[in-house]
This record gives sequence, C-alpha cells and structure tokens, in this order.
Amino acid sequence: MSEATNILREDHGRVALLTINRPEKRNALDGATRCELLGLLDAIRTDAGIRVVVLTGAGDKAFVAGADISEFEGRSPIDQFRVMSDRTIFDAVDRFPKPVIAALNGFTLGGGCELAMACDIRIAADTARLGQPEVNLGIIPGGGGTQRLPRLVGAGAAYKLLFTGELITATEALRIGLVDEVVPASDLRTRAMALAEGIAQKSPVALQLIKEAVRASLRVPLDEGLRQETTLFGLAFSSEDKAEGVAAFLGKRPAEFKGR
Ligand code: COA
Repeated sequence: MSEATNILREDHGRVALLTINRPEKRNALDGATRCELLGLLDAIRTDAGIRVVVLTGAGDKAFVAGADISEFEGRSPIDQFRVMSDRTIFDAVDRFPKPVIAALNGFTLGGGCELAMACDIRIAADTARLGQPEVNLGIIPGGGGTQRLPRLVGAGAAYKLLFTGELITATEALRIGLVDEVVPASDLRTRAMALAEGIAQKSPVALQLIKEAVRASLRVPLDEGLRQETTLFGLAFSSEDKAEGVAAFLGKRPAEFKGR
C-alpha cells in the first residue's frame, strides 16, 4: 500500500486498486487529486506487472461526488479553461492501454459519473446513486458528460439526467445501460477484483487492441472501424501472445501470456 494521500494504490497480483481517498469531501475531485490520479496512471502504464486497474472511492458514501465545487469560487474563466484544456483524467482513463474497471461504492455524480463513464466497465453497489447535477449549479458537464452519456444510454435518457440533474438508483442505471452490473454493497470490492483478476489472466496485447478497436467504434464510421479492426487483428496475429494462446489450446494447458 502506498502512503495515505488523496489516492491510495494497492497492488493485488496483476491488478492495481486505486481508491480516491477524500471521504470527508465525498471524494470530490480537487486539483491535487486529479494530479495524483494522472501520476499513478503514468506509473501503472509502464508497469508490466499490472494488467488491469480498478478505480473506487473510500468509505461507503461516495465513489466521487464530482468536481470540488469549492475550487469554482473565484476562478476566472481563463483559469477554468486552462484546467479543462490540460491533459484530463477523463481522457487519460479513456486512452489508458489497460482495462480500467470502475467500482461505484456510493454517490457517482458530475465529474464522478464522467470518470466512471471514461472507464471500460462499471460495477455499482446497490446503494450507489448516479447523476449529472451540474445544471443545478448553472453549468454543464465538462468532463465528457454530454458526449459519453448519450453514447451509453441514448439521447433521451441522457437529456433526462442532464436537464433534471436528478439522481438515479444503481438499478435504474443498470436498466438504461449506464452501469454494467449491480451487486450488494458488501460484495462490491470482491466482485470488482474477481472480474479484474479474471481479465488480468488474458493476453495484455489482445486487451490493449480490443480497447483500441472498441474506442474506434465510438468515434469513426462502421467501414473505417472495420478496417481498423482488421489492422489490429493483424497486429494481434503477429504477437508472441497469439503463438502462446494457440500452443496452449492445442497442448491442452493454460496459456501464460507475456504481453508481447
Ligand atoms: N465539492 C466539494 N465538496 C463537496 C462536494 C463537491 N462536489 N460534495 C460534497 N462535498 C463536501 C460537502 O461540502 C461537505 O463538506 P463539509 O463537511 O466541510 O461541509 C462534505 O463533503 C459532506 O457533504 P454532505 O453534503 O454533508 O454529505 P451528504 O452525504 O449529506 O450528501 C452529496 C452527499 C454528494 C449528495 C452532496 O454532498 C452533494 O450534493 N454534493 C455535490 C454534488 C454535485 O453537485 N456534484 C457536481 C459538481 S460539478
């Protein structure tokens, strides 16, 4: 376990568990926390021992209750522009070359919901509440909420959340496709880690290329996405992991992927 700071890193075998650790502020994202998250992602990116990341919040109240609103007061428009046009945690998670699983342990609001949406898979505790309440502050989401939310849930459900600022339950979030699984709160950590550990046994090459291809599906027309898939398939096909996977299958033994 790392020193207690705004984000705790615990490595469990091939999985890094990152816990946003400002429970007294409902894990709201201030500048220091965003900066720490970027630093940890940079360290994990080049750490060949870590193959999957799980992101969660400390305590039982919140995953992340959004941007730290106290930093909004008195901030000039150009300073706000600078914060948002710098490299963001949302892009860093989205582009991260390894799978990132969000374990939503409570309020998942505003920037917290946007951070969860930038992750690849979302598992929610049945006690979690999700929403984009920016409209109540007279602002709009600035971490991709107006873009990723409609892609996940469709325009109508997205407008409903964005226009009303209302919070929805984990079950409702599952129904509209905002989360992928709901579990009892007491099982959340175990379930998220088990899912991550299972994925961490797969080929890191295949995982990275799958993420690249699926990201493309959200950005480019079908023909272009299919072309990219073919190219990425070729890359996977030429990897040592592919040779190992095929040999292991034919040899009736488990594969030991090296990520090469
Ligand atoms: N930014 C800064 N501080 C926040 C915060 C945020 N986004 N969310 C919560 N906090 C702080 C509160 O100010 C309070 O601090 P204090 O103890 O110094 O007064 C502390 O966290 C606990 O919050 P509280 O509201 O008392 O807890 P709660 O469990 O009753 O309610 C929430 C939790 C998340 C529903 C409520 O805090 C909330 O609505 N937060 C704002 C959510 C939001 O609008 N996010 C979008 C930001 S763009």
